Amino acid sequence: AFHNAFQNKHGQLHAEDIALSQVAAEFGTPCYVYSRAALTEAFQRFSAGFSGHDHLVCFAVKANPSLAILNLFARLGAGFDIVSGGELARVLAAGGDPAKVVFSGVGKTEAEMRAALEAGIFCFNVESAAELERLNAVAAALGKVAPVSLRVNPNVDAKTHPYISTGLKNNKFGVAYEDAYSLYQRAAALPHLAVHGVDCHIGSQLTELSPFLDAFDRVLALVDQLAAVGIAVQHIDAGGGIGICYSDETPPDFSAYAAAMLQRLGTRKVKLVFEPGRALVGNAGALLTKVEYLKPGESKNFAIVDAAMNDLMRPALYDAYHAIVPVQSRAAATAVYEVVGPVCESGDFLGHDRALALQPGDVLAILSAGAYGMSMSSNYNTRPRAAEVMVDGDRVTLIRQRETVQQLFALESVLPG
Ligand code: LLP
Repeated sequence: AFHNAFQNKHGQLHAEDIALSQVAAEFGTPCYVYSRAALTEAFQRFSAGFSGHDHLVCFAVKANPSLAILNLFARLGAGFDIVSGGELARVLAAGGDPAKVVFSGVGKTEAEMRAALEAGIFCFNVESAAELERLNAVAAALGKVAPVSLRVNPNVDAKTHPYISTGLKNNKFGVAYEDAYSLYQRAAALPHLAVHGVDCHIGSQLTELSPFLDAFDRVLALVDQLAAVGIAVQHIDAGGGIGICYSDETPPDFSAYAAAMLQRLGTRKVKLVFEPGRALVGNAGALLTKVEYLKPGESKNFAIVDAAMNDLMRPALYDAYHAIVPVQSRAAATAVYEVVGPVCESGDFLGHDRALALQPGDVLAILSAGAYGMSMSSNYNTRPRAAEVMVDGDRVTLIRQRETVQQLFALESVLPG
């Protein structure tokens, strides 16, 4: 169900058994709040669809790299999809199993490759011919053999926002479908690479099943073609990308996705790997913010809140919609507001044209903020990043302290003279 982690009980918005007004009072605003139950349920539901088949769910760390969230998923048996040495370090610090890590990304450095080889990750998702050669050389220098998949670009239209669509020909991700067969032969011939899988990821926030299935069909055709020349892959990584409901989208549910993928797979004996990010965390998190000022205008009313584009960049960057609801309902007439932050940019908005009954000091919850919220935050305008808390039943745990201003310039120095 939509935003099921956050329920209104007697006019008070709750995360599980905790009133969000209480969280705001105790930890201040802006503050990200996550529900342990919602995170757990999303992971388990995703995995359940594939329960009869060998599979590995690798949470896409970029969606939310909180150590507490990574640790929770690790305890549930998750693997992780990483895109940097930094994310690898986080996974290890959070108790993640390196043997369940896949490493994606077009720009892996030699140092990142070494770190991943030393940790003993599950697979490198290689995105270019040049990367294959570099990985072979780095593995050779360490006396190791690197497990690899090629990320193939199946050239299907994910029908999502152009900034987050990655499966079409004209983008930087993956290798062209037409080149994959010969690149696999090259990979198989390199002594310090072992071909383990085929990988594909076509985009994010997909709300239809058909692009996933079209891409999977093309990947399966490649897998069959490779098997025919003696390159038998052990796994297929189908990437991430399942969308969530922000307002009225109807993304495929996990069981429909799983059933359709398994049906296409047929009797092929390969492990399935997935890299969901948003679908596991998006609706398990909200950003709490306080109304600082109401500023009525001739054509627009502004509600100026204490969260901004540096805390949640998605509205400014993608014109993304996030529902905004008061944590405590007020029996008063609504007005239509532009909900904006204090940052000095006209693009600093969190929501347009929202009908709300507001008073200064009210706390609002910006919903569906668990994915690509905190992970894309910045310190623009020297704004310390928000605190993060996890609700578990009637318990609240601070999982990241609010930054202090001193921390923001602790690494800086002035000129000597
Ligand atoms: N695997 C790879 C190789 C990816 O590039 C991504 C996301 C994922 C998995 C996870 O995709 P998901 O399941 O979360 O859709 N900042 C944007 C989203 C960027 C997604 C980038 N890649 C946003 O806020 O909408």
